[in-house]
Amino acid sequence: MVNILAERLLKAKPFDKNLYRKGGSKLYIETHGCQMNVADSEVVISILNKAGFGVIEDYKSADLILINTCSIRDNAEQRIFNRLNEFKHLKKRNKFLLIGIIGCMAERLKSKLVEREKLVDLVIGPDAYRSLPKLVQQAESGQKAINVLLSREETYAEISPVRINKNGVSAFVSIMRGCDNMCSYCVVPFTRGRERSRDPQTILREVQELIDAGYKEVTLLGQNVDKYNWQNGMVSFANLLEMTAKLDPNLRVRFSTSYPQDMTDEVLHVIAKYENICKYIHLPVQSGSSAVLKRMKRGYTREWYMNRIRAIRTIVPDCAISSDFIAGFCAETEAEHKETLSIMDWVGFDYSYMFKYSERPDTYAAKRMPDDVPEEIKSRRLKEIIDLQNTLSLRSNQKDVGKIFKVLVEGKSKKSEDRLFGRNSQNKVIVFDKKDSKIGDYIMVKVNECSSATLLGEIVEI
Ligand code: 5AD
Ligand code: SF4
Repeated sequence: MVNILAERLLKAKPFDKNLYRKGGSKLYIETHGCQMNVADSEVVISILNKAGFGVIEDYKSADLILINTCSIRDNAEQRIFNRLNEFKHLKKRNKFLLIGIIGCMAERLKSKLVEREKLVDLVIGPDAYRSLPKLVQQAESGQKAINVLLSREETYAEISPVRINKNGVSAFVSIMRGCDNMCSYCVVPFTRGRERSRDPQTILREVQELIDAGYKEVTLLGQNVDKYNWQNGMVSFANLLEMTAKLDPNLRVRFSTSYPQDMTDEVLHVIAKYENICKYIHLPVQSGSSAVLKRMKRGYTREWYMNRIRAIRTIVPDCAISSDFIAGFCAETEAEHKETLSIMDWVGFDYSYMFKYSERPDTYAAKRMPDDVPEEIKSRRLKEIIDLQNTLSLRSNQKDVGKIFKVLVEGKSKKSEDRLFGRNSQNKVIVFDKKDSKIGDYIMVKVNECSSATLLGEIVEI
């Protein structure tokens, strides 16, 4: 341990500040997977900042590279292995460079990761980030450092995340961790452990700090936000949502992800009651067939889901709804696939995330159900789902042409210097000529044109 540090010091030019932890060491962190991972990376940065690491954008000059990983589908993991290969030459150039795999893949593969990938020095699961500074020290001494212990309590409650998204307008706030649903296809309960809710006081404090720093939007995050439950029902998700909305009427509040089985009417009434709670619910259905949902162990039927949609339409009439779909789950028949297409059409989802089923080791499905839908059929079904969603998204966007929306300006349009983009309450992206507006403003925009992905509009005075 001492040796490597001593060697570094001896070789260093005098006053090379990069050698010293007091703000000197350079961390490059890359985040794959879901929003939860983004929130986690922000916690990791906070922990490592205190240990003297500063974040840099260019990995080539990093002292420590961390990849926050996703295991949800096989292709997500393959992408990360490919990325690791790209880092190989850096290790040859700089033998002090440390590379760590953190997050879901670290949790799933544990020490197998260091056995398979010699260049990996650290493997750290999602509940072990507090041990990062100690483990980095251990890795510096030349020992592989692994901590993949899952916890029933850890929520990083009092840690103030250091924001990655630098727009200064919207931020993620983690409200719970883990998942107890045990859907038969899903690796998440294995990688993120048991469900636990974060102390509401620390959540509200974090949101207040964001408001004080000028932020205009927060997204409350959890694998299943409807199961948020602080101290046996003392604070439910509906309560938390309401308390957050009341902090500041100018703060937009979003949340993700909702679960059909658990989403209550109480939550819907809270959404309806507050203008600043966004009228957008991501409510993944996965399949439109009750038989497939049963095999997926989702705990609800097609009819139940349709009833939840009816409840949304009644209580929050202007609400946008999006979903996730899995094409070609175990033993899925053509008729079952058609039920997915028909529920999509019935709901008229505004947006969806769509995937082919990918068998994940150790899940119930992997152990008990053959992954027996041939690849070409999975691909064809996925394409049918995507094509239908494109039609539905276009139809939904066309309905917005001519309407005026309150938009929170989030950034510059990629295509034109003179244009900005923002979102309306329904989470739809709207691009417009910037005029006098700037990032962080609320403006009124009239929609003039659309594609299936974007709305185009102009600022109007009201
Ligand atoms: N294969 C394909 N898609 C999956 N998802 C979760 N597990 C799998 C899997 N094994 C999808 C679900 C979930 C989203 C985050 O990823 O649709 O809602
Ligand atoms: Fe990927 Fe799921 Fe882990 Fe998020 S929780 S990073 S989606 S495996």
